[in-house]
Amino acid sequence: MTKFDRTLVIALGLALLALAPAMSAGAPVVLASFQDSGVAVDPAVLALGEEVYLDQCLMCHGSKGRGDGPAARFEDPPPRDLTAGEWVYAVDRTVASIERVLHEGIDDTGMLSFSETLTDEEVHAVAWWVHEAIVLRQE
Ligand code: HEC
Repeated sequence: MTKFDRTLVIALGLALLALAPAMSAGAPVVLASFQDSGVAVDPAVLALGEEVYLDQCLMCHGSKGRGDGPAARFEDPPPRDLTAGEWVYAVDRTVASIERVLHEGIDDTGMLSFSETLTDEEVHAVAWWVHEAIVLRQE
């Protein structure tokens, strides 16, 4: 190892140490699909998706998607535990299927269509976020 290499290693180590608290505090979504396939999802889309989820979905599906949000106990049927492998409507759990359910809503449940409440862009973003931050994390 040359002197230059050593300096570089130390500098990188220090940079990582400096970044570590920021990384855990902000708890950024780990891009599971990026790890799996190398295809990066636009972080801006995910950021919007997370915002929409916190605002429109968390109350029923809970902060981690387990179906245990504060309003869940008022729902019959209860909100789906999105971390469970078995889904009934967006069976293949792809972004496109999640988007379809969000547009259509589910009859006779609290899961209404979001076509009026959210823009297409927001529906798309939250579908991506659910896919990245909840679905792919279970696999
Ligand atoms: C008022 C409560 C409520 C809100 C708000 C809500 N959901 Fe749901 N969600 C439900 C219920 C209830 C079901 C259907 C459960 C069933 O039929 O067993 C459901 C089902 C789903 C499904 C289908 C799962 C499957 O089995 O295929 C997805 C995906 C989903 N919700 C995502 C979301 C997202 C994303 C949001 C926010 C944009 C959201 N939900 C907001 C209550 C809610």
